[in-house]
Amino acid sequence: MANKQIQEALEWRYAVKKFDPNKKISDKDLNTLLESLKLAPSSYGIQPWKFLVVENPQVREELKPVSWNQSQITDASHQIVLLYRDTIDEAFVQKYINRVAEVRGAPLESLNGYKEMLINNVVKAPEEKIRTWSQRQAYIAMGFLLETAALLKIDTTPMEGFSPSDYDRILKLEGSGWKSIATVTLGYRHAEDSFQNLKKVRFSDDALIEYVK
Ligand SMILES: Cc1cc2nc3c(=O)[nH]c(=O)nc-3n(C[C@H](O)[C@H](O)[C@H](O)COP(=O)(O)O)c2cc1C
Repeated sequence: MANKQIQEALEWRYAVKKFDPNKKISDKDLNTLLESLKLAPSSYGIQPWKFLVVENPQVREELKPVSWNQSQITDASHQIVLLYRDTIDEAFVQKYINRVAEVRGAPLESLNGYKEMLINNVVKAPEEKIRTWSQRQAYIAMGFLLETAALLKIDTTPMEGFSPSDYDRILKLEGSGWKSIATVTLGYRHAEDSFQNLKKVRFSDDALIEYVK
């Protein structure tokens, strides 16, 4: 893809306030969007995340009032809730190690050193540190999703304007080790969404980018 097309897609993207409720994302596009989440990088590759595609319209109706009544929750074609792992225990590390062995055809014993390192650096780290670290990983995936959508000319709104504890209750996450951290609504902008006409506000290059020479 040419640089100009990427630039255009990034400028075309904006945080949609009003979606067209009649336009739906195709299965093919949805699949590419989910792949962008899956293929996002995470620290150590451990993927302390999960992505809930909320397909049930009644559940989305329930999520709306705990999302500041933002219309995107019910009007967008799709809603994805990004979850992070609240704590990372040895069982989670083992699950990851097993997956590495399976995908790469490596004997489990050859991964012992890596597993030990993960246990020392992640499992034994202070819980609060891991929680924050885990949340950060979810935001990387969110960035991948937003950019992929823009390249596909699919509109999005990244959203933190909701009550995570209410989401966890409605989505029945309590006790699962997973917690909601952010949500992205996806679909197609409404012709009447005036936000699409606003100029993007970004600091100047000078303020944002410095070169260490
Ligand atoms: C993490 C995050 C959370 C956000 N939460 C909301 C939200 O709850 N509702 C909303 O309408 N916009 C939300 N936004 C959109 C921002 O307000 C918007 O991205 C920002 O003003 C820049 O504008 P632009 O995305 O249109 O370029 C959020 C953006 C991010 C990155």
